[in-house]
Amino acid sequence: MAIKARKLILGFLCLLLFLVPSSSLLDKLVQGQEVKDKEVLFSAQGKFKLGFFNITSNNYYLGIRYNNSEEYIVWIANLDTPIFHNSGSLTIDDIGNLKISDNSGLSIVLYSGQEGSNNTSAVLLDNGNFVLRELSPEGVVKRELWQSFDHPTDTLLPGMKLGVDHKTGQTWSLRSGRSYFIPDVRSFTFGLDPNHTNQLVILFHGELYWTSGSWYKGYFNSSSGLKDSYCNFSYISNENETYFNYSLEKGIATSPMSPMLMIDYLGRLWNDTDVLVDCASAPSSLTDGCVTQKLPECRSPSDTFSQNSSFWDESNGFKFNESDNLIMQDCKAKCMNNCSCVAYAVTNEDDLNWL
Ligand SMILES: *[C@@H]1O[C@H](CO)[C@@H](O)[C@H](O)[C@H]1NC(C)=O
Ligand SMILES: *[C@@H]1O[C@H](CO)[C@@H](O)[C@H](O)[C@H]1NC(C)=O
Ligand SMILES: *[C@@H]1O[C@H](CO)[C@@H](O)[C@H](O)[C@H]1NC(C)=O
Ligand SMILES: *[C@@H]1O[C@H](CO)[C@@H](O)[C@H](O)[C@H]1NC(C)=O
Ligand SMILES: *[C@@H]1O[C@H](CO)[C@@H](O)[C@H](O)[C@H]1NC(C)=O
Ligand SMILES: *[C@@H]1O[C@H](CO)[C@@H](O)[C@H](O)[C@H]1NC(C)=O
Ligand SMILES: *[C@@H]1O[C@H](CO)[C@@H](O)[C@H](O)[C@H]1NC(C)=O
Ligand SMILES: *[C@@H]1O[C@H](CO)[C@@H](O)[C@H](O)[C@H]1NC(C)=O
Ligand SMILES: *[C@@H]1O[C@H](CO)[C@@H](O)[C@H](O)[C@H]1NC(C)=O
Ligand SMILES: *[C@@H]1O[C@H](CO)[C@@H](O)[C@H](O)[C@H]1NC(C)=O
Ligand SMILES: *[C@@H]1O[C@H](CO)[C@@H](O)[C@H](O)[C@H]1NC(C)=O
Ligand SMILES: *[C@@H]1O[C@H](CO)[C@@H](O)[C@H](O)[C@H]1NC(C)=O
Repeated sequence: MAIKARKLILGFLCLLLFLVPSSSLLDKLVQGQEVKDKEVLFSAQGKFKLGFFNITSNNYYLGIRYNNSEEYIVWIANLDTPIFHNSGSLTIDDIGNLKISDNSGLSIVLYSGQEGSNNTSAVLLDNGNFVLRELSPEGVVKRELWQSFDHPTDTLLPGMKLGVDHKTGQTWSLRSGRSYFIPDVRSFTFGLDPNHTNQLVILFHGELYWTSGSWYKGYFNSSSGLKDSYCNFSYISNENETYFNYSLEKGIATSPMSPMLMIDYLGRLWNDTDVLVDCASAPSSLTDGCVTQKLPECRSPSDTFSQNSSFWDESNGFKFNESDNLIMQDCKAKCMNNCSCVAYAVTNEDDLNWL
């Protein structure tokens, strides 16, 4: 019996979030102010909000969500460093640092202020971008210092880029999390081919896992799942940068949410409603573009594992170091690559529940 790609039971990114009353209706954070506890910034038209929220009971994150649909988390600032208890605060301090701090002395600097940038303000825009700007004494925007769109997590919104800035070397790509409940950075990335061909790729620990096919006359020239997703991609390449961005096709632009692309912890790519790319499901993948993983001779790509809840005899097994932080997909890959391996399991409950 193959492990079937699990149909999503509760919709994707099904986080059970705690509704908190909002006590602020501003879209701007100015120097010296803070956002903390249940306070939120709203974008001008109220589409997005930024604030601290918890995914599990005590781990709080600073993130951006849709106001009318809190389960979609489009950005998280402190992916790898949740804040214990709700004591987080976001501020722009005297010298212009945009930073998260908490009452235990934690300090996560999102942007380091520079000498002279003493009039900055951060605004949450209606496209979901949180932008730090330097203002002139007249209040005119002098320049943009930092933006959340330059630091994507697992979700792509229109206006964001997937690609590389040739001058700074900065890349824009999505990173998968560990599970539905733990967003810390894990095994999969989705972005421009690092070999600089004009295609999008998913990498698994840096290895090619899926390709979109080449960009050719306005389309990806394979039937790779992105074609029918109603995402209208553009490819831009010049001496400064190379990237894909996308917009929503006309006609369905009336949706209250922006169209999204999201990569989950199994390396699957989603739009708002559907799985577009799924190379994890066996035996033969549902998606064109999946790259056959290198395997030892004892294995075939069509080999599958069956789900079984029998007793795990540790004396016949091998337990990886917990600090390796492996997720289910990593365990599977390790087992596939070891001819004497007949089964794998994870020890983390969160991973188990979301096979
Ligand atoms: C946010 O959503 C709530 C609940 O749907 C609604 O009452 C409120 O007016 C919205 N806020 C903004 C600023 O749109
Ligand atoms: C978030 O924290 C509150 C207060 O501790 C708790 O009641 C709620 O269950 C938590 N939410 C989740 C999703 O765990
Ligand atoms: C900062 O900008 C505000 C307008 O947004 C202006 O009133 C103020 O004078 C400026 N302060 C400095 C030090 O430039
Ligand atoms: C993509 O980038 C190009 C060039 O910067 C821009 O003209 C276009 O509006 C962008 N498209 C979207 C959907 O953001
Ligand atoms: C990049 O190119 C090298 C050499 O052709 C190839 O082995 C590798 O798989 C490519 N990587 C990706 C991510 O396309
Ligand atoms: C896909 O694009 C490549 C160029 O990048 C081209 O050589 C090839 O013919 C195209 N294939 C199809 C089916 O259009
Ligand atoms: C998501 O993709 C599916 C299939 O590719 C498509 O039918 C659906 O309309 C898309 N949803 C949105 C909101 O674009
Ligand atoms: C590249 O950057 C330079 C300096 O910022 C700018 O003058 C030039 O117009 C840019 N080129 C393109 C194609 O955007
Ligand atoms: C796709 O985007 C381009 C430029 O962003 C636009 O000219 C074109 O009309 C869009 N196509 C559709 C089908 O919406
Ligand atoms: C689970 O493993 C046991 C022992 O190998 C076997 O008897 C049983 O049929 C398996 N169950 C399933 C659902 O594969
Ligand atoms: C596990 O990894 C840590 C950190 O790399 C190392 O200090 C420790 O010795 C390792 N434990 C084992 C059993 O290999
Ligand atoms: C396969 O796993 C066993 C432990 O179960 C280990 O001793 C062996 O070195 C592994 N082989 C490879 C090729 O990794």
